[in-house]
Amino acid sequence: MNFEIQKLSLARAIQGQLDAMVVLWPSQTAPNALGHDPVTRWVAMAIEQGDFELKSGAVMTLYCQPGIVPRHLVVVCTGDNQTGQIRSAVQAAWNALKSTRVKQLGLHVVGDATAPGLQTALSSLADASYSYTTTLSKPKSRLLKQVLVSAQNTTAALASAVQHAQALVSGVELAKEWANRPANHATPSHLAQAAKDIAKGKAFQCEVLGPKEVAKLGMGAFMAVAQGSAEPLRFIVMRYKGAAAAQAPVVLVGKGITFDTGGISIKPAPEMDEMKYDMGGAASVLGVFKALSHLKPAINVVGLIPATENMPDGLAVKPGDVVTSMSGQTIEILNTDAEGRLVLCDALTYAERFKPQAVIDIATLTGACVIALGAVRTGLFSSDDALALQLHQAGESSGDTCWRMPLDDDYAEGLKSRFADVANVAGRAAGSVTAAKFLQRFAKNFAWAHLDIAGTAWRSGAAKGATGRPVGLLLQYLTQLAASTPPFVSEKSKRAPTGTTTSSARRAGVQPRARAPRKA
Ligand code: BES
Ligand code: MN
Ligand code: ZN
Repeated sequence: MNFEIQKLSLARAIQGQLDAMVVLWPSQTAPNALGHDPVTRWVAMAIEQGDFELKSGAVMTLYCQPGIVPRHLVVVCTGDNQTGQIRSAVQAAWNALKSTRVKQLGLHVVGDATAPGLQTALSSLADASYSYTTTLSKPKSRLLKQVLVSAQNTTAALASAVQHAQALVSGVELAKEWANRPANHATPSHLAQAAKDIAKGKAFQCEVLGPKEVAKLGMGAFMAVAQGSAEPLRFIVMRYKGAAAAQAPVVLVGKGITFDTGGISIKPAPEMDEMKYDMGGAASVLGVFKALSHLKPAINVVGLIPATENMPDGLAVKPGDVVTSMSGQTIEILNTDAEGRLVLCDALTYAERFKPQAVIDIATLTGACVIALGAVRTGLFSSDDALALQLHQAGESSGDTCWRMPLDDDYAEGLKSRFADVANVAGRAAGSVTAAKFLQRFAKNFAWAHLDIAGTAWRSGAAKGATGRPVGLLLQYLTQLAASTPPFVSEKSKRAPTGTTTSSARRAGVQPRARAPRKA
């Protein structure tokens, strides 16, 4: 989908050669205050007659009216322009249009458009009009190709919001695509090829390790999960270099279980198909890299994806088996269905070699997180308050929200083992926290955060499908970080005392991470 922005009055906007037009109308804007184009007159009349109220989500549609070039015109009220209100208004408008053949759509913002509001509107429109087609024999391809945004006043900030939205949508849709693909169409090798395709540009690199290389690295936990599968594992290393080599990268680690049967601790049959989404974390890393290829921010990013199936088999790892992780810590695998933390712990150890400024892992890790937070907010766990705050804020401003969960050491009690340094499961209580406590043991040498997206990566039920989350949150975090980091940071200035924020950081409300990476 392609987005463009133009400065146009509503009167001019409805003269555009478009199939349809959506007019976003906030509650506070009285129609009579705005001039005398046919749409404004019509809205004013409908309000006067008591047929339309400027209440959030209210929709009115017109078809083939004189003086209006687009065949379909939808007016939808965006209330006070809050993120959620804009999102549902755009969804309602698209519902009114989705059965029509709209290729070129106009999106007119009445009143003062804002950058975050515009981003929400465009990403909601893309979300509402998306449909998965890859494994259908007669796919109905998406007709909507072009969205022309118009507003009375446009600014450079609005133009860059449109660009950001364009990059975000391409990343979100790539993440959806890979997460939606059935496991036989999204094997570890397929993911590796997808990563290579994304990382073709100049500032990118991609390296893919197979079973031999992974064994050589000593990734005993990752290998244990993969040993029951006929599909060979892949360890994907992606690099984006948008800043000076001296600048420490952010490492994103995505759980890439392309199908989770549970292994020998096998899952029950109902809804097991949904475990094709267990590479949602990996898909979000691919999506972020896709978006980076459009935006090219001044920052260094590494993407790590441990990819494998989790299968039961004669060779599969058994409950009670003890394996040695890359960190040297031994792990008693009491439940083979707690496989995500096993592949992630070795990837976290691998992340140390990049001397990162922050490591964020993204994983559909626990059913317990779905119980705790549902499908609304992603679970955020972090040992670093500054990083947690940045991720929380990135969630709020992108609308792709998260909520911080605790990491008290008392939660790790249940992970004690008589046969290894640590067990891979604790009891049922606080399952998302004990999973995070397990990961934390492997993330001691850098600032670390863990996003449990088990509830937010896909929707169940009739509208089953991947959401593309948390690409929005991560992209927001990374672009903020790029905007608040001076392009050339010497080792000295990196160690400047905290509190010396750069002016751009102050503007962005972000505290730059001024510390040098700890020694591994
Ligand atoms: N991939 C699942 C987590 C999951 C479950 C995500 C349901 C989305 C919906 C993970 O590998 C898993 O099986 N976790 C277990 C952990 C348990 C054995 C400690 C779980 O949550 O039941
Ligand atoms: Mn599992
Ligand atoms: Zn899993």
